[in-house]
Amino acid sequence: MGKQRVLTGITTTGTPHLGNYVGAIRPAIAASRDPSQDSFFFLADYHALIKCHDPQLVQRSSKEIAATWLALGLDTDNAVFYRQSDIPEITELTWILSCNAAKGLMNRAHAYKAAVQANEEAGEDPDHAITMGLFSYPVLMAADILLFNAQKIPVGRDQIQHVEMARDIAQRFNHNFADVFTLPEAVVGDDVAVLQGLDGRKMSKSYNNTIALFQGEKQLRKSINKIKTNLLEPGEPKDPDDSTVFQVWAAFASSEACQQMRSEFENGIAWGEAKKQLFELVNDELAEARNNYNRLLDDPGYIESTLQKGAERAREHSATLMRKVRSAVGISAIH
Ligand code: TRP
Repeated sequence: MGKQRVLTGITTTGTPHLGNYVGAIRPAIAASRDPSQDSFFFLADYHALIKCHDPQLVQRSSKEIAATWLALGLDTDNAVFYRQSDIPEITELTWILSCNAAKGLMNRAHAYKAAVQANEEAGEDPDHAITMGLFSYPVLMAADILLFNAQKIPVGRDQIQHVEMARDIAQRFNHNFADVFTLPEAVVGDDVAVLQGLDGRKMSKSYNNTIALFQGEKQLRKSINKIKTNLLEPGEPKDPDDSTVFQVWAAFASSEACQQMRSEFENGIAWGEAKKQLFELVNDELAEARNNYNRLLDDPGYIESTLQKGAERAREHSATLMRKVRSAVGISAIH
């Protein structure tokens, strides 16, 4: 059996935070270094355009995300790391798939349905501010996946439906034309923590409760000090399972250190002390990568050339597959 092909995209809006790191980036970096896996990771900058119409933000975010992944030790010899917009076959395939994907399937996409529902609740026209990009987003994502014959797609829960739609679209195409696409499967890591944010809700840009991954040491300490706690005094026992401080600790600590912190909570560790220890733990894990990150931001030429190298490798696959797709649907030279 060949290697498993694993593929995932990172939408380039925003700056990576600790929740992205623990939930997606850290496991992906580990996968990139695993010789038994054939990983494809890409900056989904066309996806960014769906929600973000600020060119500077899209541009800056692509740079920051690329620098983040490289700084953390992404193995770009083993994994293929590229930018979506450097692969013209992705948009070509998107059109061909659009001509075969059922509109009714797209009507059921959660992201689109949520936007319609928000309009209805606000008394607006159901289509208000909904672009064709938002509506057909699952087709673009299907092209991302199917173009590389990816088998396993690591995603968050909110993306499972999109991977299932890609599978559906692939099945339909294979049935109607020729057997060109591999059927992909979503992988949602159960052992991967969903980190809580400063206010105790899921850490997310949309809740404005994030801790930026590569902020300076001082700011990191400040952010960690802002994590919401209760009013229990030093010496009063605290419940680790009801604490964001402990939850973040658990995402970074060894199981031994976790056990130890658990008993410190039971013994009434002061919140200030727990946060101080948390800062040290997180900072130790990130300090070296943060230096790499800052160095990379000053060397955009290096980032760009790494992405170009990735695009070249990616296109070896995408160009071959696209030829099969074109011929399957009857787009070819006259002969
Ligand atoms: N839509 C995904 C997200 O918002 C990102 C993404 C784009 C993706 N294309 C993909 C993920 C292909 C997996 C496979 O998180």
